[in-house]
Amino acid sequence: MVATTKPRAACLIGWPAAHSRSPLIHHYWLRTLGIEGGYNVEAVPPEGFAEFVLHLSAHGFVGANVTIPHKERALALTVPDDRARAVGAANTLWYEGSELCSTNTDVEGFINNLDAGAKGWDKIDDALVLGAGGASRAVIFGLLERGIKRVQVANRTNDRALALADQFGERVHPIAWEKISEALPNAGLLVNTTSLGMHGQPPLDIDLESLPAQSVVADLVYVPLQTPLLAAARARGLKTADGLGMLLHQAVRGFELWFGRRPEVTPELRALVEADLEHA
Ligand code: ATR
Repeated sequence: MVATTKPRAACLIGWPAAHSRSPLIHHYWLRTLGIEGGYNVEAVPPEGFAEFVLHLSAHGFVGANVTIPHKERALALTVPDDRARAVGAANTLWYEGSELCSTNTDVEGFINNLDAGAKGWDKIDDALVLGAGGASRAVIFGLLERGIKRVQVANRTNDRALALADQFGERVHPIAWEKISEALPNAGLLVNTTSLGMHGQPPLDIDLESLPAQSVVADLVYVPLQTPLLAAARARGLKTADGLGMLLHQAVRGFELWFGRRPEVTPELRALVEADLEHA
């Protein structure tokens, strides 16, 4: 009898199994790297999530991405790293021996995208982050880890910005949403983590005139690809980092953990996902 080994496979766990770009990204890397492997979409309802995750290997998977609404549960059911713990949510799971580990790859997705598109962005004292949800926590954790001295956070609901300052300590400074314009002249990096500017939402209505000329502007929104904020920043000649870049960069680590090769974010991959977004 000839022994056969099944190709390694990872999956995306969500409910409903949302229209995610992760399969497109991971299938591209499997194909271009010539790796025989799989990436499935698994629609798992909340009541079935614990069973599925705790027996991920028995279900045939070496790891997984986790998306809405399971990211917080995933943290509780696995051994999370510092990033997942700080963000309060896990989006990438893998095995170390028999232990199911987790991280939150939004942190490196954000930072690596800046490194790829706006080299030297970190030579700043002050960053200004708009929003105080899960995405904001990933951004703030990444900025602090990178050594940024001061991170100002403005949020429509001020209490959530205050809570982030409590969580992350003295380098994080909450400011009132109405005071954003006063913080702009010192901001070497401006990051939008709110849903403002997203298709169907109002634009983020701030005047970028007072940002320093060497500032970098990042937007986590990627539908549309060019948000009004990014358009305004580009019109001023500022460097920018967009949400699609972050989405692509956050996928790298999972692939590497599951399939053993570190894939690249290529212009071809970007074009593939851009085309998919256009047809959505
Ligand atoms: P995520 O996990 O993607 O960060 P979230 O936790 O729902 O999502 O956070 C959404 C962010 O967008 C919040 O900072 C939210 O502000 P509030 O905390 O005040 O709700 C922000 N946001 C959404 N709609 C907004 C609006 N119309 N004006 C300003 N901020 C808005």
